[in-house]
Amino acid sequence: MDTAKIRAAAISAAAARRGDNSAQAYDVERVRQDFPILSQEVHGKPLVYLDNGASAQKPRQVIDAMSGAYETYYANVHRGVHFMSQRATEEYEAARKKIATFLNARSENEIVFTGSATEAINLVAHAYGRKFLKAGDEIILSHMEHHANIVPWQLLRDDIGIVLRIVPVDDDGNLMFEEYKKLLNPKTKLVAMTHISNALGTIVPIGDVIRLAHDQGAKVLVDGCQAVPHMSIDVQALDADFYVFAPHKVYGPTGIGVLYGKEDLLNTMPPWQGGGDMIVNVSFEKSTFQKAPLRFEAGTPAIVEAIGLGAAIDYVSALGMENIAAHEEGLLHYATEKLSAVDGLRIIGQAQEKAAIVSFVMECAHPHDIGTIVDRAGVAIRTGHHCAEPIMQRYGLAATARASFGLYSTREEVDVLADAIGFVREMFG
Ligand code: ALA
Repeated sequence: MDTAKIRAAAISAAAARRGDNSAQAYDVERVRQDFPILSQEVHGKPLVYLDNGASAQKPRQVIDAMSGAYETYYANVHRGVHFMSQRATEEYEAARKKIATFLNARSENEIVFTGSATEAINLVAHAYGRKFLKAGDEIILSHMEHHANIVPWQLLRDDIGIVLRIVPVDDDGNLMFEEYKKLLNPKTKLVAMTHISNALGTIVPIGDVIRLAHDQGAKVLVDGCQAVPHMSIDVQALDADFYVFAPHKVYGPTGIGVLYGKEDLLNTMPPWQGGGDMIVNVSFEKSTFQKAPLRFEAGTPAIVEAIGLGAAIDYVSALGMENIAAHEEGLLHYATEKLSAVDGLRIIGQAQEKAAIVSFVMECAHPHDIGTIVDRAGVAIRTGHHCAEPIMQRYGLAATARASFGLYSTREEVDVLADAIGFVREMFG
């Protein structure tokens, strides 16, 4: 039996042990029917969308929830006594509750809506960092962070003189855990780390990272942008202090981000933006502020986007995150096997624990050429540094090509990608 078949058999056996047949029952063709965009053709070929790490497509349920809001009850939230405002507020707050349940937060007060995941990290850097950190304090990051989890801390460093320490990764893309342990010391005040690398697919043992940071008295912010679409997240089991994710990668809309924070911690932090909705009272002498989460939601929020996100959470929850993870794991193994067989193709990132992301380079062609040629076959992949230049530099690369899979991806699509890559070899090889 080949590796992919062994893996599929293991997934079925695990499902059987759980007493269900959900892994076998995951009907990807039925799932695909929920995504209108997937029936498009590109350059006369069926669209094969393998750029889910950058942004995922939206199911009809999300599109309908958003257009339904605009068509039937749209109004501003938290401000009106009229029916429409009350209804919009109920739906907006219901979305917050759904996210709290989805992440297993203790309360919906722990869920802050921001403009993006990037904004959520910047919020913590400003509101937590400027209040609780001082010159000489240390923040630990990993070498495989996205720029959004590097630059806010550099800006803070340049402002207040904190020190950034970087955990290296090995040649396969594993976090070097022993090196992490060595970096932890009494000056460590915060660890800000990705849960899954967007460039390599590495799944970081984030529970262990958090436990050791807490032993040192440090707080932990987890960048969960690539993790939330692929696995079930329990912020209480992880004991994360902050957990950030990007709704548009979880089949929800753009224009909104989510910051989970422990309620007590959020309430020790000052507001970072002032305006409407985040205040209790304002006079020219003094303003007083709401508690979390509204304290951090100045101005009219992304109302319909939050409602769309609520629908996306309903959607993935109904499919079951365990089933999605099992489906994608099968795809990862299949794609790894198929692409590894291509002469002159090297996969960048072969960590022991990986999500369904395959970054690769080819001897014969630049990643941008690969991306352009496979696009002619209808295949959308990302090429470039993936907003993670330090990890590219670690491997001596300017760029990779990256196929990133989602809950609607299929083995047939992997085959189309592999054939298109074969064509790249014929052209350049
Ligand atoms: N951070 C996104 C990606 O990995 C945009 O492509």
